[in-house]
Amino acid sequence: MSILRESLKQDGPFLDRKYLSKKYVPEKLLMRDEEKNTIEKHIGNHFSSGMGHHLLIHGPPGTGKTHTIKRIKYDAEDLLEEENIDGKIVYHKCDDDSLYEVFIRLNQKFRDYPSSGVSLSRAMNDLSPHVTNERTVIVLDEFDKIRETHRTVGDPINTTVRQFTRLHEESSRPMDVQLQLILITNDPSIKARLESHNIETFSPITVQFSRYGAEDILMILKDRCQKAFREGVVKEGAISLLSALVKEEGGDIRGGLKTLEIAGEQMYGGNEKIDEADIRDAIAIKNKNDVKSTIRDLSIHEMLVLTSICSKNKSMSKEMYSTYKKLINKTGYEPKSLETVRKRILPRLDDQGLIKTERKGKANQGVFTYFYPGDDNMRKMIYDVVDGGVFNELELPPTFVGRGTLRT
Ligand SMILES: Nc1ncnc2c1ncn2[C@@H]1O[C@H](COP(=O)(O)OP(=O)(O)OP(=O)(O)O)[C@@H](O)[C@H]1O
Ligand SMILES: [Mg+2]
Repeated sequence: MSILRESLKQDGPFLDRKYLSKKYVPEKLLMRDEEKNTIEKHIGNHFSSGMGHHLLIHGPPGTGKTHTIKRIKYDAEDLLEEENIDGKIVYHKCDDDSLYEVFIRLNQKFRDYPSSGVSLSRAMNDLSPHVTNERTVIVLDEFDKIRETHRTVGDPINTTVRQFTRLHEESSRPMDVQLQLILITNDPSIKARLESHNIETFSPITVQFSRYGAEDILMILKDRCQKAFREGVVKEGAISLLSALVKEEGGDIRGGLKTLEIAGEQMYGGNEKIDEADIRDAIAIKNKNDVKSTIRDLSIHEMLVLTSICSKNKSMSKEMYSTYKKLINKTGYEPKSLETVRKRILPRLDDQGLIKTERKGKANQGVFTYFYPGDDNMRKMIYDVVDGGVFNELELPPTFVGRGTLRT
């Protein structure tokens, strides 16, 4: 029998693992009818009158904001086509874009558009006809993550709102602008961050996605298990335990789905079942992967400050800084000042749980801060992430590689 035929026959734990993937947008999000109905009502009003309210959607991570809006977009596009109604919903995840990049990407959703070489005001003007000629909904997901640049004076979220509301003011036919803006964020301080004049001109309807309760999480995860796994593979107790742990960690459904996927990958097939112990093992693997991906996203400076701290069991800022300087000099990058390392880099590493800090001493005798690796395995993880290559060239201090964990 061919390998393909054999593999097709194999009965692993999964029925269809796409249901655990973050790309899978459910046909129906459980327990989100109210939020979905509100958003749909306002989008519907916009398409029928061209004057729909702007929306501000907010709520904690992993509560279904992105997938609700994506579901609505897909359904609405089918409906508009079916009913022969002119209108367009444009979705853009802002991630780490500058405001300039956001306008460029939006133009590119309407037509062929250059990626550079046009000014911000030109890109804005070029967007204007699209939101004038046709009823348009622009969804900016994670709009609070728009990057600060010299163009964004003050908080970029305010510049963003100002630029979009200006589309109305600067259009030659302001009454004809048919733009509905939907802004999505998980920043709990969003209302405080928006300046009052921006709230006035933008005046959105707010849709809040509240945190899930333990029962909600259990229902969502059970539903996914039924779709993704063969019947009975995931034991009831395992789903209950996972739901309780997801709730404890803040309720982000993503963590639960990823854990289930890892638990399934660890199964050898046959009649194996996923039980509570498998869930705990999968969580340990997931946490390790999460740390690695956080390390992967660090800048070279953050990475080398972290490396310097991990080269010792315990260090003070001066010795840590001198190791960092030695390392960064070998890369050819200009070192950041001790001040920058102290004020910006160390707090960021601390926030991400990559290092631990401890302050010792009395105010009148001098207070010292000590830095420790955030995790016993941190050295190994850094080493894995950069694949050893860079570090070999950097000639790390012997303590970093001399513990037997790295080279083996
Ligand atoms: N009510 C629900 N029913 C089914 N699946 C859900 C539900 N809520 C969330 N999910 C799933 O959880 C995952 C996270 O959802 P989503 O990406 O929409 O979160 P979010 O609120 O946009 O988070 P963030 O603020 O981090 O961007 C997705 O895989 C989504 O399908
Ligand atoms: Mg989202």
